[in-house]
Amino acid sequence: MSKKNSAMKRNAETRKSVPPNKATPKNKANSSQTLFKNLKLAAQDFKSTQEKMAFIIENEKFVWIGPQNKIPKNLKPQKEHDLKNQLVFPSFIESHTHSIFAGSRAAEFEMRNTGVSYLEIAQKGGGILSTMRKTREALPADLLKKTQNHVDQFLKQGVSTLEIKSGYALDLKNEIKLLQVVQKLKGPTRFIPTFLGAHALPPEFKTHAEYLNYLATKVLPEIKKQQLAQRVDIFIENKFFEADTAEKFLIEAQKQGFQLTIHANQLSLSGGVDLALKLQAQSADHAIHLTDDLVKKFSQSKTVAVLLPAADLYMKCAYPPARKLLDAGATVALATDFNPGTCPTQDLALVGLLARLEMKMTLPEVFTAYTKSAAKALGIDHEEGEIAVNKRANFISTNADLEDFFYSAGYTPDHLLFICGDRVKRT
Ligand code: NIG
Ligand code: FE
Repeated sequence: MSKKNSAMKRNAETRKSVPPNKATPKNKANSSQTLFKNLKLAAQDFKSTQEKMAFIIENEKFVWIGPQNKIPKNLKPQKEHDLKNQLVFPSFIESHTHSIFAGSRAAEFEMRNTGVSYLEIAQKGGGILSTMRKTREALPADLLKKTQNHVDQFLKQGVSTLEIKSGYALDLKNEIKLLQVVQKLKGPTRFIPTFLGAHALPPEFKTHAEYLNYLATKVLPEIKKQQLAQRVDIFIENKFFEADTAEKFLIEAQKQGFQLTIHANQLSLSGGVDLALKLQAQSADHAIHLTDDLVKKFSQSKTVAVLLPAADLYMKCAYPPARKLLDAGATVALATDFNPGTCPTQDLALVGLLARLEMKMTLPEVFTAYTKSAAKALGIDHEEGEIAVNKRANFISTNADLEDFFYSAGYTPDHLLFICGDRVKRT
């Protein structure tokens, strides 16, 4: 296949895998090449850096990467950026957030902190259902404004790609409203929407099975028709959705062409991880409660374990066995789980810090978890997550060192963020 044809094929795949937004590469008619030189490049495994490196970007992707004294003669970049020995590494991918919601649950946090459990609050109509009531009432314009603020908070920390789950409306009209608002968010961030209608049982339904049947027959087809999401999530947990009931729904979602991700084994050995592995979900998220057998099965699968330690901090629960997963060879990603209930922070530095302090992850493992492995969790690792030829030119450049990241909670060292080769302007 010629270079041009394969580029066209890649772009077609991109359009298929994720509804287009501003950060979807375009086939520019007049493509030009830009050289970035004098940079210190982090190795693919983040274990070392190499000076006097350069790369060339064309059509929003890397087309050449190497020592700057070895630029191939046939490449003729029209533009040049001198990065003055700044460190360059891939930008961050936030692979698990519930960034679209209305209201606040700060008062519930005080209750939880003084002894009422998450499940008790949920059973009394609080928790997810309290956010649901506010979110159903919210006007799209207000949701858009609030969510755009969340997006901007992530962008400032070097996040170029952001997953956003629906799941705080729990009916056809309002879940669609949320996903339509996600479509209206302003880039340059790339958004990956996920449908999480199966987050909790809404008051209109008596049984989880009935509600899941409604989601499968009424809501999923509409999402497909309007191309609002390509991924389906579910919260598998005792008192939420049981694994047995969930399986039928997830298989139906797959039949309709959706990829799967599962909130699994957050509060107990709920069967969520087993199901994620059985159905070859893109990811099983939280994954706190794992037997040695499940760790082994994880390592033999393509499913990514997306670990969310900031939520574990707020929930005062155990941290997931990241070390065991990594040592067994499983793919581990990290994310915030930003949401109004169990994780009201958007702080990537805190997530990485907790992974290092509490989960014995090394700094290179944290960087990998927030870039390449996060891309794999979202099924976009063929498009981004690494500084590599043919991948999107999404990167961070900074005068800081790798060691300065994921070190100080609430703090991202000064840096520039480039998305598809373009420098993101500060807001
Ligand atoms: O990932 N566990 C389910 N969903 C969210 C929490 C949702 C909420 O409490 O609002 C989570 O922790
Ligand atoms: Fe979550």
